[in-house]
Amino acid sequence: MALYSEKVMDHFRNPRNAGVIEDADGVGEVGNPVCGDIMKIYLKIKDNRIEDVKFETFGCGSAIASSSMATELIKGKTIDEVMEVTNKAVVEALDGLPAHKLHCSVLAEEAIRAALKDYFDKNGIPYDPEEFREHDAEEDVPPEVLEAAEAEKAAAAASCGTKFK
Ligand code: FES
Repeated sequence: MALYSEKVMDHFRNPRNAGVIEDADGVGEVGNPVCGDIMKIYLKIKDNRIEDVKFETFGCGSAIASSSMATELIKGKTIDEVMEVTNKAVVEALDGLPAHKLHCSVLAEEAIRAALKDYFDKNGIPYDPEEFREHDAEEDVPPEVLEAAEAEKAAAAASCGTKFK
């Protein structure tokens, strides 16, 4: 079986909603200290709905596919509906991710939450801080996955110079 689903490959090759919203109502940026990937989500919100969403992701293919799919999932949704969109929903919509890449989808969930929090803060909208508790990357990722990520990073570092020149 292929490591990545057709959907992951499609969203990686043709990312939806990539870019910046200059006058965004909420912006969220998160990073994963283990792999070093960074994700930024821009939201345009009107009448309590996500009118537009864009992302910038500096990271792996799974992070790009996760950002792309996550933006598709939340576009047009109400804020309450967006709060229900978890990394699991992103993974399911992508027809799965390899275990050591699940944290890429967590980054997408966190970036969306961070952008919503920014919107709430800017507009003085009250919220439950527990809903926006920053995840500790190490807490979210099981130890065996962290180990796999470390091994992958080492392998990538070793092969980078020759493979991606
Ligand atoms: Fe870290 Fe994909 S977001 S490897």
